[in-house]
Amino acid sequence: MADVASVDAIEGLARSHGADAVLTVAEDRSVPVVAAVAERLGLPSLGPDAAHRFTHKLAMRRTLAEEGLPQPTYAAVRNLAEGRAALDTVGLPAVLKPADAEGQRGLFRIDEPGELESHLHAALAESTSREALLERLVEGTEMNAVVVALRGSTRLVSLSDRLRPEDAGFGVARAHVHPARIHSDQLAAAERTAERAASVLGLRDGIGVVQLVATTDGGASVVGAAARVAGGRLAELVRHAVGVGLVELALRFALGEEIPEEDVLPRRAEPVALRYLTAEPGHLPTGRVARIGRGTRHPAAAITDRARRIADHEPPWRRRARASPRA
Ligand SMILES: Nc1ncnc2c1ncn2[C@@H]1O[C@H](COP(=O)(O)OP(=O)(O)OP(=O)(O)O)[C@@H](O)[C@H]1O
Ligand SMILES: [Mg+2]
Repeated sequence: MADVASVDAIEGLARSHGADAVLTVAEDRSVPVVAAVAERLGLPSLGPDAAHRFTHKLAMRRTLAEEGLPQPTYAAVRNLAEGRAALDTVGLPAVLKPADAEGQRGLFRIDEPGELESHLHAALAESTSREALLERLVEGTEMNAVVVALRGSTRLVSLSDRLRPEDAGFGVARAHVHPARIHSDQLAAAERTAERAASVLGLRDGIGVVQLVATTDGGASVVGAAARVAGGRLAELVRHAVGVGLVELALRFALGEEIPEEDVLPRRAEPVALRYLTAEPGHLPTGRVARIGRGTRHPAAAITDRARRIADHEPPWRRRARASPRA
């Protein structure tokens, strides 16, 4: 075991095991650590500069701006005076976020100027460099574009809608739906934007996820990007939807395998929807789970039972398929 934030510790662990590869699957914080360790060990890597551009949101925004990619207006904020100036540049509604954090820690929707003042401290506290960003909130349907870069050439693997709540938890995924609903010129624009964004941020050989918002003017704006396999259950959606196994691919990239082009191209295009189970707002109960199963009173048991009921439930399409088997 070693601290995933420590380059020295992970390097030591990798050396002691004679590791052939280092990778992170879904954790953003580890992306720069993995890049640094791989470089020290002479293993295939994203490279520390690209890792910084993908994980430091200000570096990301600056790079995308230099390359003319569509993205929300933004400003760097290190204190309240800069915050007030940023409100003038960016306007409302806006999103306040730490420059280097993940998992939506310190992320706030700002609808009133006073909210910036209330949340700035919390946003700065989540940043190791004590920096935050204020970005214009992009209205529209959010999408996840999964891309793969092979020898410097980036292509789209899948584009799916990422549905989220309107109000509280505005950044949290409620469901993923493949394919994305946009079409024609907007689809072409989203595809081009996702591929270019990953490319200018420095992805050469590997997997990336570009978060886009389909805007009402027919465009696609970049709200975020990551150089790793998608988090949540998105990798499963991609496997079912287009037949590409992202985790296996990530491992092959990390091992430095020569990957043929056909292994990264979508093999099919199936409609797939994935919905997360949600809980009522309130405190998450803590405690020790002694046993999980029917009849157990711990709230975790209720979740397990519900998941089991859903899993047990035969979906209508399967019932129909059984009733009228294809010739
Ligand atoms: N400028 C924006 N406009 C609209 N929505 C945004 C904006 N910035 C962030 N969001 C919403 O918040 C979510 C999380 O934002 P972001 O990726 O910047 O933070 P994070 O801490 O890296 O979170 P995650 O780990 O979920 O990627 C986005 O997926 C999106 O739903
Ligand atoms: Mg993010």
